[in-house]
Amino acid sequence: MSKQIRIGLIGAGSISEMHLRAYHEHPDAKLQAICDLNETRANAKAEKYDIPHVYNNVHDLLARDDIDAVSICTWNHSHAEISIAALQAGKHVLVEKPLCTSVEDALAIQQAVADTGRQLQVGFVRRYASNTRIVRSFIDSDDIGPIYYAKASCIRKLGNPGGWFSDKQRSGGGPLIDVGVHVIDLCWYLMGRPKVASISGNTYARLGNRSNIQNLSFYKAADYRADQNDVEDMANALIRFENGASLLVDVSFTLHAKEDELTVKLYGERGGVELEPELTFITEKHNTILNVTPQIDNLSFNFQKGFQDEIHHFIGVCQGEKHTLSPVEDGVEMMKILCGIYESSHLGREIHFN
Ligand SMILES: NC(=O)c1ccc[n+]([C@@H]2O[C@H](COP(=O)([O-])OP(=O)(O)OC[C@H]3O[C@@H](n4cnc5c(N)ncnc54)[C@H](O)[C@@H]3O)[C@@H](O)[C@H]2O)c1
Repeated sequence: MSKQIRIGLIGAGSISEMHLRAYHEHPDAKLQAICDLNETRANAKAEKYDIPHVYNNVHDLLARDDIDAVSICTWNHSHAEISIAALQAGKHVLVEKPLCTSVEDALAIQQAVADTGRQLQVGFVRRYASNTRIVRSFIDSDDIGPIYYAKASCIRKLGNPGGWFSDKQRSGGGPLIDVGVHVIDLCWYLMGRPKVASISGNTYARLGNRSNIQNLSFYKAADYRADQNDVEDMANALIRFENGASLLVDVSFTLHAKEDELTVKLYGERGGVELEPELTFITEKHNTILNVTPQIDNLSFNFQKGFQDEIHHFIGVCQGEKHTLSPVEDGVEMMKILCGIYESSHLGREIHFN
């Protein structure tokens, strides 16, 4: 029988629901404690998921010796401090994306993982999705070939969620760090995690949060405020890697675009793949180009299933039966890329890594 893993959930807001549901359904996981600055919110989740211990202070939760692992679902700027405290308290950690808000903090987390010998999984949930795993198997079998170009977009025409998302001090940035992290990480991971050589990035804060818009609904944070917004509303970047490959990306919270757009495309010497919006392989047979659509349950990212798969994997990691697919090192590299894009934009020129 596999070891039971006792879980503490930190940050009981929107995304915690995905974590709680997945732990609740896992036969080897037991939800032991939950914590949120907003105790009413934590109590509501505790009642829904039958969690015995509720806190409004993370250190009280971490002091319990009957917790093996924690999920950190708080605002981005607190990820580093809470991850390090949890590791030092002997817990394994699943921390939501982005790993944190600076390279310095990312390196401190990496050091804490090394010092404590605990496991840390970064919440790059899309790596665990079935469509990504299928692409990975094709790449590993050399069907796509060396990938030399990738292109990703995550465009919202109207969708600045407000609240802490648009407060740079708590979020670390706007659409780049919030949704850009997903698509940049997916491309980088599937390209074989090449070393970054240079970044040329641009960020724009031209449209604000467009709270004036009527007749078009969009997702709002629970604590939405229209008067608070100091993050970029769009970003783009060209990332060049040491192996010569390149990645072109653009993301937005708002843009005068006709449609929302989510695309992740990779181009190799032996074939191409569109991971989003719908998994398609592009190949060649008998001198004819083919678009190949696999027969699978989810051709696109399935939100709930993705979290189930990510958390299922994390439990296996805590049990010592699996290696994480998203280790702290990758979280550090992603922070270098995201912060590099912000830095390049700030300087108004390409930046180089050695
Ligand atoms: N993987 C994904 O697809 C995905 C999707 C959405 C959000 N996220 C990430 O999840 C995290 C939370 O996002 P959200 O949308 O749930 O935000 P949210 O505002 O809905 O919830 C965050 C909660 O954390 C609590 N909190 C903040 N600091 C805390 C602290 N120090 N101790 C205890 N509680 C604290 C807040 O009170 C709030 O209830 C963010 O890092 C975000 O980037 C990931």
